[in-house]
Amino acid sequence: MSSIDKAIGVFDSGLGGISVLKELRSLMPQEDYLYYGDSSFAPYGVKTKEEITKRCRSICAFFISQGVKAVVIACNTATSACVKELRTLYPDLPIVGMEPALKPAVNGRHQQHVLVLATQFTLKEKKFEQLMSRFDEDNTIYRQPCPKLVELVEAGRLEDEAAVNSALREYLKPYDMERMDSIVLGCTHFVFYRSQLRNLIGDHIALVDGNAGTARHVQELLQERGICRKPSSAVGEVRIYNSLNKEAILKLSRELLER
Ligand code: DGL
Repeated sequence: MSSIDKAIGVFDSGLGGISVLKELRSLMPQEDYLYYGDSSFAPYGVKTKEEITKRCRSICAFFISQGVKAVVIACNTATSACVKELRTLYPDLPIVGMEPALKPAVNGRHQQHVLVLATQFTLKEKKFEQLMSRFDEDNTIYRQPCPKLVELVEAGRLEDEAAVNSALREYLKPYDMERMDSIVLGCTHFVFYRSQLRNLIGDHIALVDGNAGTARHVQELLQERGICRKPSSAVGEVRIYNSLNKEAILKLSRELLER
């Protein structure tokens, strides 16, 4: 099979990366996608770098065995843990990672107050320290880990208003929302909470995520390499795999994709 005909592999610690897959599909519906959720090992955010790297290596090996033309690490945590290592292992494969969208949140402005919601792992890694150091001289940046927001998505409890609102309130409580300019959704699971967050914080705070930017980046990379399928009326297929290998998690994945 020639590269252009191959699928794009997208993975995450679980179901969060489906929010990225949605964006990819809406930008490039003509492509085929393989999605791998590692729900049996989620959350990644509280694991060690070695543990996360081991899982990501085997997911990439699975993608290679299926013959993909590119890999999207639809997970900020996995990207901080091992994007470099995966690129070294597969030098010919385009691998796109993600980082909390702090740059678009600040957007060249000064004296911004930005709250970054991400996993514990992402926020304590050197990669994030480096990203912060580019912006924290001129701006005030707060960081908040939110493990319950990962658990609720994985448990299929996004519609459980009471649990969702109590978790969101707990994580926002320490901050003065009157002064906040933007909130960065620095974990792909959190993108599913946009509307609930909007209801809690009102209209004056921007909610920023990196999903659309990541999808555009993937498209550019495929175009540069001449392996992006031409837009057509034919819609590509999406195959979903999950390390839990249970019908319920595959069903939940489909529901999130169509949400
Ligand atoms: N969705 C992941 C991210 O973007 C991580 C969630 C987790 O497994 O802790 O960081």
